[in-house]
Amino acid sequence: MSIRVRFMALIAVLSLIASISLAVLSYQFSVSTALEEAKIKGALVFNYMKSSRDYFRKYQLPVVYEVAGRDEFIPELMSSFAVARGVFEVFAESTPDYFFKQATKNPLVPSNKADTQELGIIADFHKNQKQTHTEGQIQKNGQAYYYFAQPIRVTKETCLECHGDPANAPEEQLDIYGEETGYNWELGDTVSALIVYVPIQKAMDKAKKLAGTIFLFGTGGIIVLMFIIWVFFSRYVVKPVVMLEQRATEISLGKNMNESIVTPAQDEIGSLGRAVDRLRISVNKMLERYK
Ligand code: HEC
Repeated sequence: MSIRVRFMALIAVLSLIASISLAVLSYQFSVSTALEEAKIKGALVFNYMKSSRDYFRKYQLPVVYEVAGRDEFIPELMSSFAVARGVFEVFAESTPDYFFKQATKNPLVPSNKADTQELGIIADFHKNQKQTHTEGQIQKNGQAYYYFAQPIRVTKETCLECHGDPANAPEEQLDIYGEETGYNWELGDTVSALIVYVPIQKAMDKAKKLAGTIFLFGTGGIIVLMFIIWVFFSRYVVKPVVMLEQRATEISLGKNMNESIVTPAQDEIGSLGRAVDRLRISVNKMLERYK
């Protein structure tokens, strides 16, 4: 294999490794930045939802009961879950790719029904009673999300007034939600998880695109670089070496002895050329002497 091919192969392999490493590093960096951002956004949305729910329970609900009395049950006014659901529906109008769910094993509201992944989260919360929240990456309908979840456990008997035996539930509740689902919950059970989903699919796609672009530009750069090296090598190394080899062969045969060898380059090949030229002169003198 010629020096030129060996050298080019080495450069190609090294540059390819560098270009792939750069693309992988860029992907990892973008993904970790996207996740970091999603975490901050998710924590903010979650905290805001929780605050509005807590405010409702702590400050508004007692006033509502004072004004409306306890005989009548109006979910929009008296259920923090109805309020949280409503607030998020309005939030989602302007921010449609985020979503919030009060994912529940056996809910009153059908849209709160937990899917298989959410049932898994609820089961984990039930197993780890001390756990207060969980978060991570998740795929939903082919889209990537970062989720934040908090468990809802039935810790008070009062929950069962509405979620226990339907016979005991407020009449208005039965009218609105029916009596098929959302009942017969048990004290101590983990029934639900409040989950905020932050979309990260766009950021993931962007990370992949950027890594792809870096790789393409890297490969393009390698091709241009190889072309330049090829031309440089041909002109400054291969051509003079081939010429010197030809002249050295001629000297060994005593041919073409009066034509001087010109290598003006001030590098190793130039020196080699001048040395071969001195050799030509010396051999020529010796040949003259013995003629
Ligand atoms: C006065 C009746 C009442 C009481 C008491 C009550 N809930 Fe509810 N709960 C409701 C209603 C009505 C909804 C549906 C709200 C809506 O429209 O989103 C609901 C919704 C929920 C949901 C969302 C899932 C679903 O069923 O759609 C969870 C979780 C929940 N309640 C848990 C609790 C817990 C835990 C307690 C006790 C701390 C409790 N509830 C006490 C009436 C009640």
